[in-house]
Amino acid sequence: MSEESYIKLTKEAMSKAYVPYSNYPVGALIITDKGNQYTGCNVENASYPLGNCAEASAIASMVMGGENKINKIYVMTRNDEGGIPCGGCRQRIREFSDESTEVIMCSPDGIKDRIHLSKLLPQSFGPEHL
Ligand code: THU
Repeated sequence: MSEESYIKLTKEAMSKAYVPYSNYPVGALIITDKGNQYTGCNVENASYPLGNCAEASAIASMVMGGENKINKIYVMTRNDEGGIPCGGCRQRIREFSDESTEVIMCSPDGIKDRIHLSKLLPQSFGPEHL
């Protein structure tokens, strides 16, 4: 699939976001090492801390699909900088990453930046430390 179609899928995921409190929709698309796709959106709650990030819901979907290796993750928001994963989501992505895992920050009109997870979360803690 082309990068253009990945952007389209990420935008579709963002359009599903349930964000009555922040009005800040986020969509995420994971491409696994096997080339499969899993999407997620943020889902908020009247009890604010219970909301889920888009990356977390895409990861849950990937795990339900029986996979655990993120090759690339697209994150989209409506601003011009593109979707930047929060600290918690950097750690969530880290769990299923290796040195080549890329985070691709997008806005609805396309890709704004791409960066390796290891640069977003340097000297990180992971399963191999346990
Ligand atoms: N949000 C995400 O979905 N992913 C991130 O990495 C950053 C924040 C969501 C959480 C909340 O629903 C809204 O964006 C505003 O923080």
